[in-house]
Amino acid sequence: MTKIAPSMLSCDFSRLGEETERVTEAGADWVHLDVMDGMLVPNITFGAPVIKCIRDRTSLPFDAHLMIEGPDRYIKDFVDAGCDLITVHVEAGESASKAIRLIKDSGVRAGITLNPGTPIESIEPFLPDVDLVLIMTVNAGFGGQKFHPECLPKIERISEYRKQNNPRLEISVDGGINSETARMCTDAGATVLVAGTALFKSRDMAADIAEWKGFGPNAE
Ligand code: DX5
Ligand code: ZN
Repeated sequence: MTKIAPSMLSCDFSRLGEETERVTEAGADWVHLDVMDGMLVPNITFGAPVIKCIRDRTSLPFDAHLMIEGPDRYIKDFVDAGCDLITVHVEAGESASKAIRLIKDSGVRAGITLNPGTPIESIEPFLPDVDLVLIMTVNAGFGGQKFHPECLPKIERISEYRKQNNPRLEISVDGGINSETARMCTDAGATVLVAGTALFKSRDMAADIAEWKGFGPNAE
């Protein structure tokens, strides 16, 4: 089954705890938490102290997406806040490699991600060490952007690597995911769908999550 990770970026932040419970009840698999620093990306969101506040609202894994410069400086904080997966951007440079080592040493699952304009070759050196590859299908920084279909070959390429080398590798996609683009991504080999706008604006989040879980290579 395809895993569904609602992005809390699109929730009502005045009710972050209740919204975390809502996605849990709707059948989500992971809670996707977008951390932005106003440097690596133009926007600022929240950090480890806020994540810590909602940790006891669900038993679902916390999937932290760190859109920050120098992510290695903050790995301990996100581990201590209760994150189960921590993903860093290859665009963060040398700090991304240090961060991946720190994440693994903490016993937490590590992910690497890249923006649409960054070539897939840039993450290849990380593949033996990570548990997750996050293919960005919009430029990181804001919810509600349009899906970039030219990113689909990246998913196919990582899917091929997964088949050959590591069937446990998760291939996640993030940005502009809705019922239509979700299917395109799972057909290409994605195992996790991150979605903010589509799920939080949905009339029936639980129904969408249930439907999307059935997307995938074995779908009818
Ligand atoms: C964007 C974030 C996404 C964002 C996706 O930088 O990484 O997780 O919330 O939002 P939608 O689903 O609205 O494109
Ligand atoms: Zn994200």
